[in-house]
Formats: sequence, structure tokens, C-alpha cells
Amino acid sequence: MTQDELKLAVARAARDYVADRLPVGAILGVGTGSTANFFIDEIAAIKDRLGGTVASSEATAKRLAGHGIRVLDLNDVDAIGIYVDGADEIDHGMAMVKGGGGALTREKIVAAVADTFVCICDASKRVDVMGRFPLPVEVIPMASAYVARELAKLGGTPRVREGMITDNGNLILDVHGLSITDPVGLETRINQIVGVVTNGLFAGRGADVLLLATAGGVKTYTR
Ligand code: A5P
Repeated sequence: MTQDELKLAVARAARDYVADRLPVGAILGVGTGSTANFFIDEIAAIKDRLGGTVASSEATAKRLAGHGIRVLDLNDVDAIGIYVDGADEIDHGMAMVKGGGGALTREKIVAAVADTFVCICDASKRVDVMGRFPLPVEVIPMASAYVARELAKLGGTPRVREGMITDNGNLILDVHGLSITDPVGLETRINQIVGVVTNGLFAGRGADVLLLATAGGVKTYTR
């Protein structure tokens, strides 16, 4: 199967998960990235069941609206039943590295509000130890050099992502060369660096459900 066929398969499984578990009229959180895009296209078929969606990026909001799916401001909703999003890496404890698309901050906010985080990805994203994919860190522009020096002290090699300004007007530092054996500890430590908006470790609030596309079908894991 191609990568896109795997993404389509897991997007369909996530659509069915939402159709089965999200009460009619409830709010759905929608992630960002190529796998999430397949999911957005799939939920067009069930849009009348949804009370609305909250998007984790401008790009996702645009794609949802293009299907005629209602997009709500997070401040106008009290709860999000399910949040569906991809990941760059996910470990066996359901901690993730996210932010390859640069949307990590809004993704983390939507994930924090959601009752259930459903991660959708293909089997290549499931790893024993995260860090091979560079860890994205969103930073306030004036603090980027300082934050880079602090990140280097943690053992990684930060590089400014060229040409990237986030939806929030900030920069992304991608930290290469980390071996993330303590995801919760590292997430907490990076968040304490002044000038960091968010880091792409989703460990304190990891996934509750993983739908993993494999050549043998979509497998379901729960926390
Ligand atoms: C977006 O900022 C990311 O967190 C994505 O969820 C992640 O990069 C996965 O993207 P793909 O589905 O495109 O691999």
C-alpha cells in the first residue's frame, strides 16, 4: 500500500470512530497535516451529525469550510468531544511529537480541551524512542537565539525552520538529535524556557486512542 492509501484507510477508520462515538450535535476538534486532510475530506459525509468543528490551524479551517463544514471559534464552545489529529512520531506510551506542519500550539490547545484525543497515522510513525523526527518548538521571534542556546544545553541541535511563520506570528525551532526517553520531563523542561510558546511534545496530554494504518489493516490501541 502507498502512504496515501494508508492515510486514507486510517482517515476512514477515524470517520467511523467519530460517527459511532461522538454524540449527534457534539463538537469535533480537527487536526492539521496531510493525514488530517484525508480525515477532513471523509467527514464531509457526516457533517450533518456534527454540532460543529474547531480547527487547529487556518489551513484546516479553510479546508473544513470548503466542504461546508461548520467551523467554530474555540471560545464559543464549552467542550470538544473528540479531537482527531496526526502525529510525526508516537511512542508506546501514547506520547507524540507533533508540529511538522507548524501548527503545534493550536493543536495543543484543542487537544487540551478535548475529552478524547484520537491519533491517526501510519505504522512508520510508531517508534520505541522519539527524537528521530526533529522536535518543533514555537518561539516568540525576539527570543529565538536565546531559546536556541537553552535548547542546545538539553543536548539537541536547534535550527530555525526557514520560511515558516506560524498562524500565531511566531518562529519554529526544529531540534535535531534528541533521544526522548522522558517525554513528560522534556516537555515540561522546554516549556519553562522563557520565550517558548509551546513545544511539540504531546506527552502530559498524549493520545487516548491510536488508529494505526498498517498493510494488514487499521489497528486500534488505547491508553
Ligand atoms: C501539524 O503541525 C502536525 O502536528 C501534524 O499533525 C503532523 O506533522 C502529522 O502530519 P502528517 O499527517 O502530514 O504526517
